[in-house]
Amino acid sequence: MDASLQTPALEARNLVLSWDGGETIVARDISLTVNESETVCLVGKSGCGKTTILHALAGLTRPLSGAVVLEGQDVTGTPGHISYMLQKDLLIPSKKVIDNAALPLVLTGVPKKEARERAGILFERFGLAGTENSWPYQLSGGMRQRVAFLRTYLMGNKVVLLDEPFSALDALTRHDLRNWYKSMAQQLGLASLMITHDVDEAVAMSSRIYILRGNPGAGVPSTITAEIEVPQQEAGAEKDFELSYEFIDCKRRVTELLM
Ligand SMILES: Nc1ncnc2c1ncn2[C@@H]1O[C@H](COP(=O)(O)OP(=O)(O)O)[C@@H](O)[C@H]1O
Ligand SMILES: [Mg+2]
Repeated sequence: MDASLQTPALEARNLVLSWDGGETIVARDISLTVNESETVCLVGKSGCGKTTILHALAGLTRPLSGAVVLEGQDVTGTPGHISYMLQKDLLIPSKKVIDNAALPLVLTGVPKKEARERAGILFERFGLAGTENSWPYQLSGGMRQRVAFLRTYLMGNKVVLLDEPFSALDALTRHDLRNWYKSMAQQLGLASLMITHDVDEAVAMSSRIYILRGNPGAGVPSTITAEIEVPQQEAGAEKDFELSYEFIDCKRRVTELLM
C-alpha cells in the first residue's frame, strides 16, 4: 500500500513547545509522521530541543499548541499511549534485572509474581537469558540497554520513542545494538521514533530522517528544516551497509543539512 495513504502510527501536528509556559519557545511547527513498523529519526545538535519534543510526544508534557495523534486519535498531553525510553533511563540499581524489566507491568497493577513471569518469558528473545536474577551493575552497558528496551516494550504500546538510546555505549557495542534493535523492532512490529545527534546512527537505523535546527538557548526556536529518505539496503547486506557508497553519501547530505 502507498505509505502516503496510510493513517500514520504517530503524527505530530504543528507542535509549539516551551518549558516555561511560553516565554522561551524551544521548538515550533514540529510536524512529523511515523508509519506502522517504521523507524524514523529526528536528528539535531545537542540543546536544540530533541528531548523536549520527545516528552511532548510521550504525553509527559503538553505543547503550547498543536496535536499529538496516535492512529488518528488525539492523545495530546496524555501519557500511557506511547512507550518511551528516556535518555537517562538508568535501571534501578537496587532491583534485580527481572524486576527492572517487569516494572511497567507492576506499575499498571499486575501482581509481582505474574509480572515477573510475563517479563521472564521474553528474556531469551531479547538476548537476556540467564540474567534474570543479576543486579544491573553486573551487566555490560549493551545488556543494560537491552533490559531498558525490554522494559520499554513491556509498557505495551506499538509506538516507541527512544531518546539517544546508544549514546553512552562504546562504538562496537553501539554497532551491534543498532542492528539488533532494527531486527527486533521489525519482528515486534513497532513504529519507532528515535532522536539522536549521531548522524551515523540515524542513517544506519531509519528509513526517513527529519533534520531539526535552531538554537533555543540563544533565542532561536528549533524547527524541522528537511526530511530525507534513507536508501534501503538489500536484505542480508545490513552488515556492509555502513561501508557502502549509499550510506556515506546519505551521511554527507544529513551532515551538510545540520551545519
Ligand atoms: N526545564 C528547563 N529549564 C531550563 N531550560 C530548559 C529546560 N528544559 C529544556 N531547557 C532548554 O531547552 C533547550 C532544549 O533542551 P533539550 O530538549 O534537552 O535539547 P536536546 O535534547 O536536543 O539536547 C536547551 O537550551 C535547554 O537548556
Ligand atoms: Mg536530549
